[in-house]
Amino acid sequence: MSKLDINKIRSDFPIFADKSLVYLDSAATTQKPKQVIDAVSDFYSNYYANVHRGIYDLSIKATEAYHSARKKVANFINASDWRSIVFTSGTTESINLVAYSWARKNLHKGDEILITEMEHHSNIVPWQLVAEETGVTLKYIPINTDGTLDLSNIGELITNKTKLVSVIHQSNVFGTINPIKEIIVKAKSVNALTFIDAAQSIPHSPINVQDWDCDFLAFSGHKMLGPTGIGVLYGKTELLDSMTPFMGGGDMINSVTMAKSTWNDIPYKFEAGTPKIAQAIGLGAAIDYINEIGLANIHEYGKHLLIIALEKLRTVDGLTIYGHKVGESCSVISFNLEGVHPHDLAQFLDQDGIAVRAGHHCAQPIMDKLGVSSTIRASFYLYNTEKEINKLRDSLKKTVSFFSKL
Ligand SMILES: Cc1ncc(COP(=O)(O)O)c(C=O)c1O
Repeated sequence: MSKLDINKIRSDFPIFADKSLVYLDSAATTQKPKQVIDAVSDFYSNYYANVHRGIYDLSIKATEAYHSARKKVANFINASDWRSIVFTSGTTESINLVAYSWARKNLHKGDEILITEMEHHSNIVPWQLVAEETGVTLKYIPINTDGTLDLSNIGELITNKTKLVSVIHQSNVFGTINPIKEIIVKAKSVNALTFIDAAQSIPHSPINVQDWDCDFLAFSGHKMLGPTGIGVLYGKTELLDSMTPFMGGGDMINSVTMAKSTWNDIPYKFEAGTPKIAQAIGLGAAIDYINEIGLANIHEYGKHLLIIALEKLRTVDGLTIYGHKVGESCSVISFNLEGVHPHDLAQFLDQDGIAVRAGHHCAQPIMDKLGVSSTIRASFYLYNTEKEINKLRDSLKKTVSFFSKL
């Protein structure tokens, strides 16, 4: 039995007033509960002002709400210090920030960065750019076609030359949950820094940065019920302190003269320009919402939905499901239907009100490995139901039947 009151949860999301919508694209972005929408609207309507700059009541209120959001994020991932939390525009910016402010400044020809073939493009391209500019070698932990990492040669891939290991926690294509702690321990044995891309796992699984002892971690607000335009870079304070700014201007300065500038303390040193105040307040409200329901309950419900979905989809003739054969995975299922292009299939499903993603999911190396150009991806979150999974199965079967008659 689920500990979640799904009817109550669905009633919190204004978009589900449209009863015909079956939203199965939460891995791309989640829908928003009214608690988040209201928190953003309340800020704009009742205490909107810039932060840190004004000595007037509204600005003090806005600054407090902004700071409170940062503390909520720190607690959510069990960071010991709120100064470890840098607000960015999303996971992509968080990774690029470290690529610019740490990797370009500290790495040289002969050094190695290790990532995996399972990464989202956001955790590939920034390191390719670093490699091009610095002569650093970029290496990849291979994947198996069953959607898991092939860690059999990890001892050879992580060497004294390895300076950074940057790994996706949960695959946005397969749903696979990677053995992050094991990889971090291996990286530490050669004193390499570690960066965890938690964009997919953050809405589903409790994350404890102190337990992992990772150096950096990134995620996006919009994938965890929060607004777009806000993300997080967690970094150990001593590392963030040692790094130079990513962008200049606004609150990131301590003083500016014609001759030179000095930098603000962390995390502000990395938050140039007017901060993402409304977005951070919205993210704080999203964290409150998740905490109220309980991340452990959400995780359990996700596992329950995944088991049901796999069982039902496996009854569809000609359907190939990628991954989910061994190990732990989460509620993301990528598949293809024999003889039907994924984009056509997505349009067929859309006619039944079912929203799924079709494409390469910003993970072209995975598509290459699978020997396909794209897949359909159905992904579930706390507002989805077994009834919706039945609709997906039925719509797929209808498509199979349609094509068999051609
Ligand atoms: C695993 C992973 N990493 C990074 C990203 C990039 O996130 P954003 O576009 O919010 O920066 C995504 C988004 O799909 C993702 O799934």
